[in-house]
Amino acid sequence: MPAAASLFRLATRLDEVGFSDIVLIRNRIMELRAKGATVYQFEGGEPYRETPDYIKEGMSAALRENKTRYAPSSGISELRRAIAKKLREGNRIPADQENVIVVHGGMQGLFGSFQAVVNPGDDVLVFSPYWTPIKDLVGHCQGRLVLVSVDEARANGFRETLTRYATERTRAIYFNTPMNPSGVVFTRSETEHAAQFAIDRDLIVIADEAYEDIVYEGEHVSIGSLDGMFERTITSFTFSKSYAMTGWRIGYAVAAEPWMTGLRKAILYSSNGVSTPTQWAALAAFTTESDFLATSRAAYLQRRDLLLAGLNELGLRCAPPAGTFYAFPDISTIGSDSRQASELLLDRAQVATVPGVVFGPHGEGHVRFSFATSIETIESGLESMRRNL
Ligand SMILES: Cc1ncc(COP(=O)(O)O)c(C=O)c1O
Repeated sequence: MPAAASLFRLATRLDEVGFSDIVLIRNRIMELRAKGATVYQFEGGEPYRETPDYIKEGMSAALRENKTRYAPSSGISELRRAIAKKLREGNRIPADQENVIVVHGGMQGLFGSFQAVVNPGDDVLVFSPYWTPIKDLVGHCQGRLVLVSVDEARANGFRETLTRYATERTRAIYFNTPMNPSGVVFTRSETEHAAQFAIDRDLIVIADEAYEDIVYEGEHVSIGSLDGMFERTITSFTFSKSYAMTGWRIGYAVAAEPWMTGLRKAILYSSNGVSTPTQWAALAAFTTESDFLATSRAAYLQRRDLLLAGLNELGLRCAPPAGTFYAFPDISTIGSDSRQASELLLDRAQVATVPGVVFGPHGEGHVRFSFATSIETIESGLESMRRNL
């Protein structure tokens, strides 16, 4: 082989790292729009509300006060202290400021978490269908994704099911609740069974609680709050969904040692911390009295019920998601292939969704609708499906 051919190759650790399919869907939407079509957009993954003014004012004040210099790469201590308090009081996770690191959104927290835990050749148990980037984050560590069907775990028991999929190479469990894309919220008992399994097998849990504030039925339980779990759990949180701050890129992770050292290294040598004014804005989210979380939850619930009623009426069977702002209906009445079903929804009804198979093989037979959008979009999208499907 000529030297150039072997030299001009990406590092092998990127072999299993891909790009999101969602880009392809966005391109198709842009094409349709360019042709003058109205597209009812249900494919997104972000709150429809604006960031609250008191958070914006937190950044404005920081700028006026020239809080614009390097911050400690783990985050300003005012914010880390406020986060630790929120974790203790809200999540029952026994965290101090030293257990908290401020990161560029859930994505960077998860990136650092997998980097801190997974060695090449390690297996990671992932409840499925799962949020697609997890495959790439595990791939970047040259680990192996082992999918565990949520339906199977719910039918046969969490410990029994996890036991069935675990190998001697299993190192960690990715535990996302509330879950994207299915909207499943794990119950306390399910969480306890998963935790006991992790303790028995001496596994690390990487918990992803991006949607902790968007729960309609049941309760949000942080697995890191359970007995014996704090030392073996890294939990990733984000301001993106709770506070409509997707573009600000800020979140936090909580962990004990040695995981915190791993996170600090990953953050120090990638971004060297989050922009200082953004951190002051995030502090305002935790220190200002507001009903923003409650009003958001109520607004999403109203949208969930409207979309669900319409989908079920159309024969797209869907159980109400207990959390998140996603509905994940069964598309068997319009086909078995979720990519084809998603295309058909777009071509015939101008309704944009994400094919379920994007979230792994257990997502096939479904498409994902986000109901984080206006009531008008939901009503018009449903009407278009009624007329055109
Ligand atoms: C399950 C889950 N985890 C984490 C994230 C990361 O969010 P962000 O990086 O915007 O904070 C998302 C975003 O869609 C998500 O759906």
